Amino acid sequence: MDLDFAYHNPVKTFFGRTAMENLPDLLAQYGKNVLLAYGGGSIKRNGIYDQVMTCLKDCGKNVTEFSGIMANPTYAKVLEGARLARASGTDLILAVGGGSVIDCCKAVSIFAVEEGDLWTKYWLERQEPEVKPLPLGVVLTMAGTGSEMDGDAVITHEETRVKSSCSESAFYPDFAILNPVFTYSAPQYQMLSGIFDTFSHIMEAYFSPTDADNISDDLAEALMRSLIRNTAVALEDPEDYTARSNLMWASSLALSGLLNLSKTEDWEVHEIQHQLGAYYNVTHGMALAAISPAYYRTVCIHAIPRFKRFALNVWNVDPAGKTDEEMALAGIDALADYIRTSGMATSLRELGITDPSGLGEVASSCIRRPAGYHTLTRNEIYQILKDSF
Ligand code: NZQ
Ligand code: ZN
Repeated sequence: MDLDFAYHNPVKTFFGRTAMENLPDLLAQYGKNVLLAYGGGSIKRNGIYDQVMTCLKDCGKNVTEFSGIMANPTYAKVLEGARLARASGTDLILAVGGGSVIDCCKAVSIFAVEEGDLWTKYWLERQEPEVKPLPLGVVLTMAGTGSEMDGDAVITHEETRVKSSCSESAFYPDFAILNPVFTYSAPQYQMLSGIFDTFSHIMEAYFSPTDADNISDDLAEALMRSLIRNTAVALEDPEDYTARSNLMWASSLALSGLLNLSKTEDWEVHEIQHQLGAYYNVTHGMALAAISPAYYRTVCIHAIPRFKRFALNVWNVDPAGKTDEEMALAGIDALADYIRTSGMATSLRELGITDPSGLGEVASSCIRRPAGYHTLTRNEIYQILKDSF
């Protein structure tokens, strides 16, 4: 572990079939007024809404509902939630849903208590909050983003066409309830999107210096192998508890901070995806799947030993008769095969982008930060987008 680090993840996490049994004790620690936040209504169809509402009522809470949080939540939706939270004197925000609901609520938690241009302060300049945000609890219904165990919130500012995350440690939930059974009803498309999102979070740390022997890389490889195994099982039987629980916990671990320790991190694939999302409102994990092979083929020349290790330890590629460079490319081919055979998106066209002429503007809008092994030029970003089309 060559690079020094501090590690602190404050989220109280309850995992498993009985995780919801902890909700009454958790709720007892906050005041009476709860802002119950959710998305487009899936929780009403799968019965999670009723379970949560019964618990809130039994605990004597006053509930204000904040519903209709869309995938890729917008700045305007955050302002709507903040108005509701202020008007109802919210003591606790309870986010019931996937990454979009949780992220929107994280943003609401600060917009409800602080005045000023918070978009610039937290999402563009990524400052750490000095004002204490409202407390946030999570009941997770979809695995993938890891938002339930991290402090980040990804919000789309539609007017300026910027999709941005904030400081990684700004807005941790107080608690998260993770029942894998709650994820059974997610459509297969969303399940796969979440799985690739997790895969991508792991790779964003794994494909970055340092390359010295370190536990983060060993954990990353174990998690990637687990994802590959459990994707196949969950596709066969979406209600296989073992598979769904492993997929859920992998997604939380991936962004819990553990895998980034002693790594400089990359995040270029996510940066490109976020701007694609700002222009085309595409499903996050699927868009990551569509651009990852082209991205890694571009950067692998700058880190052949690392990509060779990926081929060997994650994909079990036979090294016989292959040069190091051939091994490196074979690992990326295996990743592309996994994306294709699992039914994840293999091109931007599949995501509904019909005209590649707008991709230059997406490339120009990407915020460029120092990356893992190679910081892309704008032309390289544009080429990756065209290759992924
Ligand atoms: O809106 P509802 O009705 O809830 O339906 C949702 C939505 O249509 C549905 N769904 C969720 N759980 C379900 C379910 N349907 C049936 N049964 C269930 N149990 O799935 C659809 C997608 O939900 P969403 O929350 O949008 O998906 P996801 O969890 O992938 O979140 C994506 C957002 O998170 C951001 C992404 O950019 C995107 O905006 N990310 C957040 C991160 C973070 N905070 O750390 C990191 C990620 O890299 C990512 O950027
Ligand atoms: Zn992601």
